Amino acid sequence: MTNSPQEDEIRLAAPHTRRRFLTVSGAAIALAFGTNLAGRTTAFADAMKLKSDPFTLGVASGDPLPTAVVLWTRLAPEIFDPMGGMPAKNVQVHWQVATDEHFKRVVRSGTATAAPEYRHSVHVDAGGLEPGREYFYRFRTGNAISPVGRTRTAPDPRKQLSKLRFGIASCQAYPDGYYTAYQHLIEEDLDVLFFLGDYIYENAVNTVGGDRFDTSANVPDIFQTSPTTLDQYRLFYSLYKSDPDLRAGHAALPWIATWDDHEVVDNYSGQVKGTIPVEDFLVQRANAYRAYWEHMPLRSQQMPAGPDAQLYRRFDFGDLMQVSVLDTRQYRNASPRTITGAAQMNWLLDGLSQSRARWNLIANQVMMSEIRTTLTNPPGLYTDAWDGYPEDRKRLFDGVVERGVQGLFVVTGDTHTNYAADMKQNFDDMNSKTLGVEFTGTSISSGRDGYDTNPQLDLQLQANPHIKFENGRRGYVTFDLDRDRVRADYRVMPYVTRRGAPIATQASFVSERAEPGLKAV
Ligand SMILES: [Fe+2]
Repeated sequence: MTNSPQEDEIRLAAPHTRRRFLTVSGAAIALAFGTNLAGRTTAFADAMKLKSDPFTLGVASGDPLPTAVVLWTRLAPEIFDPMGGMPAKNVQVHWQVATDEHFKRVVRSGTATAAPEYRHSVHVDAGGLEPGREYFYRFRTGNAISPVGRTRTAPDPRKQLSKLRFGIASCQAYPDGYYTAYQHLIEEDLDVLFFLGDYIYENAVNTVGGDRFDTSANVPDIFQTSPTTLDQYRLFYSLYKSDPDLRAGHAALPWIATWDDHEVVDNYSGQVKGTIPVEDFLVQRANAYRAYWEHMPLRSQQMPAGPDAQLYRRFDFGDLMQVSVLDTRQYRNASPRTITGAAQMNWLLDGLSQSRARWNLIANQVMMSEIRTTLTNPPGLYTDAWDGYPEDRKRLFDGVVERGVQGLFVVTGDTHTNYAADMKQNFDDMNSKTLGVEFTGTSISSGRDGYDTNPQLDLQLQANPHIKFENGRRGYVTFDLDRDRVRADYRVMPYVTRRGAPIATQASFVSERAEPGLKAV
């Protein structure tokens, strides 16, 4: 059997391990996850010969540590070409970090190799920086210089931090509307943005970009098919990043991103998507994970090995906030039913119990709090979220109580709806302990223009006394954290299918560290 170009490519670039895939049969798996690095080219292309701007997909930074941050770009002079318009050769890319946006005071610089097997993406882990300060960065290859990005390192964990301001965003289906939200978000002066999943959607996009209905868009026919191969997934990232507002969002501040389902395919669970044979689905998952890593500001520790990638990880923001970023997709399993997998749950509980931070944030994909979708008994539940995995929720909540975890709050994506919820130890008993609060952010664009409320949201407010707010408009949520209090502002727009929507605060809530529970402001 001959390999497709995608299989060859993923075989050449698969870092090192076959792990549990030895248990999965099928020639495709053996080909896709082999370890042979032979044949990797060492030739360098002459970057001077690039005919047009290679920085079409912008720049990004992410995963800030106290002294380091990841800087990202990808060379793609022709964004809808599978090779990005680049030769199949390594290219050298120079990078600089400065304390001013005019690069008068360059504090770090270096050279990275953009390799064709990673589609000339560049992931620089720029170290030696000072904690809690603003930096500017840019890239150069040949005569081409990238746009300037702004980033910020995490504060010194040994020092007392009095406040932090951050945001959450999720769910940006390209054909559902414009990314106007980012125009507003970059004016918010946030320290960091958490992106909570559905960066791309696998849904086809038509010539006019769906409900964007942009007759000048000329979206190529290749996007009228849902992606399954590596090159197809890559092209979807190119399409999404062709949006200038998204590029501006990345260039303005560091992101800490995790994925949900649509980066692969709707509502998949671990190794399972409908009736697709597991060995075939894992090849698709490997392609999707690989394309995600190539296009996001992530460290090499997050680089997939075949269909596995370590995306759950932890960050500290001074002594004020510890963040556990979850991956509730990759390890889902039907038997025993788990949404996190045992290893991730242990890691989460260990981190919460060892935390010395005032606040403990869980950056999460799908609603953790119960949402009854009917007034019946038993109630209807949305089983793709934590409601489908009550054993894991109990494990987490019991662990939080046993360990006396303080300052717990959760931020969530997925639903294309804003929710604010008290997390009750027992959702059937409003007198039970409130363990923390959950702020679920609406979508950037998914679901088109949205609505303030509808009969289903009204019913849910009635059926769920622990839920204090619901709203179906598009936007994001900002947070102001101090030593004793978290404040959330739900920022929404009246439309996204046209450009230029204004933004306004629909609702604001606070919760006290000493006595968790939502209070409207
Ligand atoms: Fe979504």
